[in-house]
Amino acid sequence: MMQNDHAPRPVPSACVPPVYVALDFPTARQACELAARLGDQGTHYKVGLQLFLEAGRPFVEELVNSGKDVFLDLKLHDIPNTVYGAAAAAAGMGVRLLTVHAQGGGSMVQAAVAAASAQGGGIGVLAVTMLTSLSDADVRSLGFDERTMSERVALLASFAAQAGAHGVVCSAFEIAAVRAAAAGLATLVPGIRPVGGAAADQARVATPADAVSRGADYLVVGRPITQAADPAQALANIRGEVFRAAGAISG
Ligand code: C5P
Repeated sequence: MMQNDHAPRPVPSACVPPVYVALDFPTARQACELAARLGDQGTHYKVGLQLFLEAGRPFVEELVNSGKDVFLDLKLHDIPNTVYGAAAAAAGMGVRLLTVHAQGGGSMVQAAVAAASAQGGGIGVLAVTMLTSLSDADVRSLGFDERTMSERVALLASFAAQAGAHGVVCSAFEIAAVRAAAAGLATLVPGIRPVGGAAADQARVATPADAVSRGADYLVVGRPITQAADPAQALANIRGEVFRAAGAISG
């Protein structure tokens, strides 16, 4: 298996996994309002397609320059040459993590990793395996074969590892399969819901504690924080749960 010499090292499981708050808002103003409500607690942010299309590079650079750790979730999926260019542009913004689709193929993931390396390697390329909004039934209806979700995610993870990715995006339930397929890959887990939280369009959901105890290296959380009556309290609760679960592993 190709060693990933350039990407940042995965967070050791004994560390407390960071919680990226997904700034899924239609305007920069709303994103800034949320960030203001989170104050110093808001250290890690995700910028995805909606906000990036609206506010673009200046917004991302402002977040980075204000000392925030930024995950740019653009889920790139195109020919290798195009993805190389896009990943190079992303790396130039100083973001910490960037997503591409594992299903774009090994050469495409490799192109993103090469672009990140060319910019100094400070950006970790994460390959999205199977979206957490998809159930087993959804995947079968798309014409995929009869593999289980974990088998499919593990297969994509092993391709991502060979391409030199820093990690993969998967649900909490596939972390063990990812580790078995490619031990060095970091895992970033969406579909996080505190106990009793509405799944909405997510299908493979887990609590923060469950994701951490299963070995997640990073969590990304959107609506349970952004739609909460008190977003700062919601983030504090989630981080408290993550902290306790991480302590239970290391202790
Ligand atoms: O609101 P919610 O917590 O469901 O948001 C999850 C966030 O994680 C969204 O910003 C979504 O784009 C992102 N994400 C995801 N599934 C992936 C990769 C990223 O839900 N495979």
